[in-house]
Amino acid sequence: MSNPRILLFDSGMGGLTVARAVAKQLPDAHLIYSADNAGFPYGAWKEKPLVERIRRVMGAFIDRSDPDVVVVACNTASTIAIAELRASFNQPFVGTVPAIKPAAAMTKSNIIGVLATPGTVNREYTHSLIHTYAYHCKVFLHGAPRLAEIAEQKLRGHRVDMAELADEIAPVFRKRDGGRTDVVVLGCTHYPLLTEEIAKVAPWDVSYIDPAPAIARRVADVVEETMLKGEDRSVPAHGTVLLTAARSETSETLAAYGTMGFPKHEIIDLPV
Ligand code: DGL
Repeated sequence: MSNPRILLFDSGMGGLTVARAVAKQLPDAHLIYSADNAGFPYGAWKEKPLVERIRRVMGAFIDRSDPDVVVVACNTASTIAIAELRASFNQPFVGTVPAIKPAAAMTKSNIIGVLATPGTVNREYTHSLIHTYAYHCKVFLHGAPRLAEIAEQKLRGHRVDMAELADEIAPVFRKRDGGRTDVVVLGCTHYPLLTEEIAKVAPWDVSYIDPAPAIARRVADVVEETMLKGEDRSVPAHGTVLLTAARSETSETLAAYGTMGFPKHEIIDLPV
């Protein structure tokens, strides 16, 4: 039997936190990572152009890699475009959405913080997760404008500005009626890259939910249900990252991908 070929997708480096968990869960998988770094950050995009952008970019990545399964390792993309992607392509898709259901099951104070991108906090999808699973909780949703970029800079070897980080996370640490936030959902795949620093600047200890291990388990289930294609055409090698742009900080960016298990890269030309 051939190894499953899995395409992971994000706007940038955040999906590497999911790739790491998938590699652990499925050590024999052929992993290809893809990042729309020319479109980063997705958190600032308007909905309609973003959905169009994601479909176009995904089409190019799928053409190049012919995956068995696609993982949309990005909350901002999944909450807006997963239905569209499933309707447009034949592959099974596994998405990533803010872990509000497990947070509601875990909280004791019934006060939950959700850190996500400005795009994700505005989505209908996110609000419906709250209404369905956390209706009994007070949920503080915060669209952090700079957190994804701070995480990328850290992975490129730059220093994290702890005062700026403290400002980015402060709005989800709240007190109400004698209780306070005790669970914080990391609702953007970039944020687990900063867990240690976030815990250091947080005003008090809470539990942080990184959904990556749960996504990896779901990917394993989907792989088991999928007919694998095998190596019948030339595709990028395991450990390749597909990018949409050669950005100015290219060598640092490529080094960062290398440290996370993706030492090879290709720049993909998007169809006009
Ligand atoms: N990693 C992405 C997410 O999970 C988004 C970061 C961005 O492009 O704004 O939402």
